[in-house]
Amino acid sequence: MENLQEIPAPLLAWYDRHARILPWREQPTPYRVWVSEIMLQQTRVEAVKPYFERFIGELPTIRDLAEAPEDRLLKLWEGLGYYNRVRNMQKAARQLVSGYGGEMPQDFDAILALPGIGSYTAGAIASIAFGMRRPAVDGNVLRVLSRLEKSYDDILKQSVRRRFEEELLQVIPEERAGDFNQSLIELGAIVCVPNGAPKCPECPLKEVCRAHADGVELELPKKTPPKKRKMEDRTVLVLVSDNKAGLHKRPEKGLLAGLYELPNLPGRLNREEVLEFVKKQGLSPLRIQKLPAAKHIFSHIEWHMTGYAVKVEEPPAFWENGGTEPEGREIQKAPAQEEIFFVEKEQMEKNYSIPAAFGAYTQYFKERY
Ligand code: ADE
Repeated sequence: MENLQEIPAPLLAWYDRHARILPWREQPTPYRVWVSEIMLQQTRVEAVKPYFERFIGELPTIRDLAEAPEDRLLKLWEGLGYYNRVRNMQKAARQLVSGYGGEMPQDFDAILALPGIGSYTAGAIASIAFGMRRPAVDGNVLRVLSRLEKSYDDILKQSVRRRFEEELLQVIPEERAGDFNQSLIELGAIVCVPNGAPKCPECPLKEVCRAHADGVELELPKKTPPKKRKMEDRTVLVLVSDNKAGLHKRPEKGLLAGLYELPNLPGRLNREEVLEFVKKQGLSPLRIQKLPAAKHIFSHIEWHMTGYAVKVEEPPAFWENGGTEPEGREIQKAPAQEEIFFVEKEQMEKNYSIPAAFGAYTQYFKERY
């Protein structure tokens, strides 16, 4: 966007007068920037301040972080939540000790490769601590840029973040890359604030802002909330015949497309309904046993599963997929796409990858029925 060319000068002038005094802004060493940015990811600035001082006081170097006992580390993080953040930091610190002499390398790709560091944090460290011309686009910056450009693109999309990163790369000033990134973050944090109260009269960019020009700043940024997962009841069958297991190939389109699965059907069926279904498939059930319920969470669907183990009589040979043709008898009919077929349990384990959604039930093939 061409109006981004106009932002560095007024933004930096504003930052010089209005930037908050924050502990990590004094001596912005790579380690201090890193620790602060990780803490700030899910926590407010005011809440982070005392944690930051205590953490840096007790573990003043990357090496100290690498060597800290886990209990001490978790204690220092207690109250901040999302403990994986600090576990990942320690993993990264250990990599820095073993590979880089305990120092953060001045190399963007190497920083980005560390555990727990994504493009935002890598960009913040590279620009604030090393002065490298790299963007650092967090939620604040996404909001500021959406409004500046009057962009209705969904800021939760990776592609939108990448586009903003590319556009910023064109305008980050050579001499003050870190201050420029922090000024965008700061503007988002104290002026171009979310939840209906942007302080446009105070904004150094009000003349360049396209959302402000059209009076639509409250409509932006756009975020499509993730859809609620659909709940689905399914009944899963562990079909066994001697040493064979009944399988089914999923349709080529949709969820788990083209993969093999344990036969399953919608709803929460009772024994009678299951037996009826099994007979309809041309199979003769000998015994049925209810199995414990199980749950599997996909990104958009949640399966709540009821399971049954059903022992059936030996199915006709032509049902065997890939089995040898019985002597003197022609295969009458290849199993149709949608039909259940039987394979040796051993073959199933070796040659058919069954999705994890059925993991709670595949174990029952190991039992005797
Ligand atoms: N939020 C995330 N990073 C920040 C920073 N460097 N300064 C102030 N607020 C922030």
